Amino acid sequence: MLIAANWKMYKSARETREFLAAFERPEAVDVVICPPYTSLREAVESGQAIFAQNVHWASEGAYTGEISVAMLVELGVQGAIVGHSERRQYFGETDETTARRAEAALTGGLGVIACVGETEQEREAGETEAVLRRQVGVLPRDEGLVVAYEPVWAIGTGRTATPDLAQQAHAFIKSLLDVPVLYGGSVKPDNAAELLSQPGVDGALVGGASLDVDSFTAICLAGAPS
Ligand code: PGA
Repeated sequence: MLIAANWKMYKSARETREFLAAFERPEAVDVVICPPYTSLREAVESGQAIFAQNVHWASEGAYTGEISVAMLVELGVQGAIVGHSERRQYFGETDETTARRAEAALTGGLGVIACVGETEQEREAGETEAVLRRQVGVLPRDEGLVVAYEPVWAIGTGRTATPDLAQQAHAFIKSLLDVPVLYGGSVKPDNAAELLSQPGVDGALVGGASLDVDSFTAICLAGAPS
């Protein structure tokens, strides 16, 4: 069971240090924290497993604002999220750039959490499986790869996929690619246990509810086998 915290553009280095000093990982779950770039060093010093929120495919070059695999490795970062829907929506990320980032990270020895998921419009048009097939289809086969199923309509909205919907999507993704699949989208302490107990749900990628140490700890505990 893997519980990942996606902090997005929240938490300075100081706030990161304070959070991680207060956080105790429940033993039975794997935890990954994904802070902003400027907090990575502090986060690594905590001894927790740390992923970045993105990574570039080139080893170096004229790519203003980007960060390479080697830069992350040198800091002791263990992986990166790629293809988050906010990157796709606001920063022009595509299936192709997501695949290139994933490939470079995995080749360079980083773990990858690759995000996939349909928009509300796509779901209503009956296109969920076609979208997932396209998004998953470009990802490299690698044992360092984890997929996060994050229906876009459930991210930061307070609307969570029903356990049934999540289970169906996870089963479909696993039929395409045999990898661990995390669920993401408004995971909270009060819905985590039910979502995490569904077959095919191997963990969670948590945004808003990961920013508070008590709520994130409660979600981690919900994923721990009783
Ligand atoms: P949320 O975000 O938990 O705030 O919905 C999840 C994510 O974007 O990874």
